[in-house]
Amino acid sequence: MARRRKIYEGKAKTMYEGPEPGTLVQYFRDDATAFNAQKHAIIDGKGVLNNAISEYLMLRLGEIGIPTAFVKRLNMREQLVRRVEIIPVEVVVRNLAAGSLATRFKLEEGTPLPRSIIEYFYKSDELGDPMICEEHITAFGWASTQELDDMMALSLRVNDFLTGLFLGVGLRLVDFKLEFGRLFNEDEFTVVLADEITPDNCRLWDVKTGDKMDKDRFRRDLGNVKEAYQEVARRLGVLPETAVAP
Ligand code: TMP
Repeated sequence: MARRRKIYEGKAKTMYEGPEPGTLVQYFRDDATAFNAQKHAIIDGKGVLNNAISEYLMLRLGEIGIPTAFVKRLNMREQLVRRVEIIPVEVVVRNLAAGSLATRFKLEEGTPLPRSIIEYFYKSDELGDPMICEEHITAFGWASTQELDDMMALSLRVNDFLTGLFLGVGLRLVDFKLEFGRLFNEDEFTVVLADEITPDNCRLWDVKTGDKMDKDRFRRDLGNVKEAYQEVARRLGVLPETAVAP
């Protein structure tokens, strides 16, 4: 059997060369990591669930005009994506205080923020993804002011849309992390949404019970990680049949 060329191995996904130039195959593994991979486990079936959830969300975002690298889901664990140059800036959007923001400012988790807050982190495992500001991004050339502007505007649109989408299925979108890439087309390029949107990189709380339905269940040893991801997929109407435990 011919082996595909591996392009990049991340903490939860592996990227392979795609069938045509300018494409990649994004493979969702079952690995879960936290605290810059100091904590690791295999959550059986997480990759299948994340593949389906991210496909659904990227398609919905595409429909409202958000440019994305997503092309199509290929099978249970893989999707075809456009090859982009990843901008090394993680954009975090927050609606309620949680996680590192709650710790940093001694806020009770769940405190509503006066308005949505955008934070930037430099994508570097070696440095442990330090928090950065616009000045760092432009001065070090990680993104131009125009790209930064595009990323911010797209992130806020994604936040507005996903907040409503999740609320419709009884989930509060507390915060999430996005990554963007440069999509080259002849001598031009545009900034597009890349990577994934899944419970690995969102905080989702059940509206009624406040239950955490995301990777915090793994980070904080709350148990039932897979069940929570399954429930998110089920509510979105994308629960793959094979992802249901026998
Ligand atoms: P934080 O509160 O730990 O800074 O996380 C904010 C959001 O970003 C949360 O939804 C989880 C997500 N996130 C990632 O996707 N990758 C990461 O490495 C970290 C630290 C957070």
